Amino acid sequence: MTGIIVAVRTSKTFRQRRRYPGLLGSFKGLVSPKYTEVKAVDEISFAIGAGEAVGYLGPNGAGKSTMIKMMTGILVPSSGRVSVLGRVPHKERMANAREIGVVFGQRSQLWWDLPVRDSFELSHHIYDIAQSRFDENLGMLCDMLGISSFLDSPVRQLSLGQRMRAEIAMSLLHDPKILFLDEPTIGLDVMAKDLVRKFLSQINKERGVTIILTTHDLQDIEQICPRLIMVDDGKLLFDGELTKLRTVFGARRRLTLEFKSDPGDVVLSCATPVSSEGMTRHFLLDNDKTSLIEVLTELGDGYDLHDVSLDAPDIEEVIRTYYQNRLAVEAA
Ligand SMILES: Nc1ncnc2c1ncn2[C@@H]1O[C@H](COP(=O)(O)OP(=O)(O)OP(=O)(O)O)[C@@H](O)[C@H]1O
Ligand SMILES: [Mg+2]
Repeated sequence: MTGIIVAVRTSKTFRQRRRYPGLLGSFKGLVSPKYTEVKAVDEISFAIGAGEAVGYLGPNGAGKSTMIKMMTGILVPSSGRVSVLGRVPHKERMANAREIGVVFGQRSQLWWDLPVRDSFELSHHIYDIAQSRFDENLGMLCDMLGISSFLDSPVRQLSLGQRMRAEIAMSLLHDPKILFLDEPTIGLDVMAKDLVRKFLSQINKERGVTIILTTHDLQDIEQICPRLIMVDDGKLLFDGELTKLRTVFGARRRLTLEFKSDPGDVVLSCATPVSSEGMTRHFLLDNDKTSLIEVLTELGDGYDLHDVSLDAPDIEEVIRTYYQNRLAVEAA
């Protein structure tokens, strides 16, 4: 496999101390074993090319952060291998760090009690960035992320949205070729999410920065990442284009009917009702061949229709379908 990031049958196993509930806890010394093994990443392989933007998605505990940590050199794979720009990240941590940027949504890289500017200065020195380059990058990032107004405020005084923008700016000051982001939009409001998404998409498209981001927010992926890697329980489930995911998991298209007056219950043979609010009714089409004409024909003239729309399944629906199917299989 070729690419600037390559994982070949990469696995990571953690030993977790076993917890003994209640009375059993008193006898825990007598019960063995004391540890259980958790395979956080289970033989994952992929290759990511320069300039790609890839969303890494999966439920809690699926192994996303563990994979990011192996690619950034923080963790060592238990088996298999990872290579980033031709290096083994954990063996050449400093050389790797010079060429990558890392943002952890849940953990700050900025100095809590110091002004944002001081953390940036630290980065300036650690990465030995030429003064002119540093000034140019800082100016560009301040403009794009709108952070000039709080550069001199201590980090602890910033809102989450402001802090996240500062974190992202800091990760890019040394011109990394690859940016890893672990849940960059977690906890942000709609406006801040939008700004972060637009920014990431822009530096990917215009500056060619390769992006790998983990998220629980499917809109992040829709707006930034044409390619999606989906994992569950440590294993790779899907790697491909977002559009392909929809067909693979057979999610259904959404039908919305808006009426001029309350239609009461609306029954259609080709669609399943999902929700209703006011005069609007939402359905999922049972068959991906059904056309709008067929729907309208079935409705007939009995309803006072105001508007109608038929949309591709949103990715939330795709993922929900997948998990429902998986749960059904497990139950069987
Ligand atoms: N340092 C560690 N020691 C022991 N177990 C760990 C460690 N880090 C992660 N794990 C376990 O590995 C599994 C994967 O964790 P990981 O943090 O990679 O998941 P995640 O996909 O990032 O989840 P989330 O969406 O909640 O962030 C979990 O079962 C977790 O408990
Ligand atoms: Mg995580």
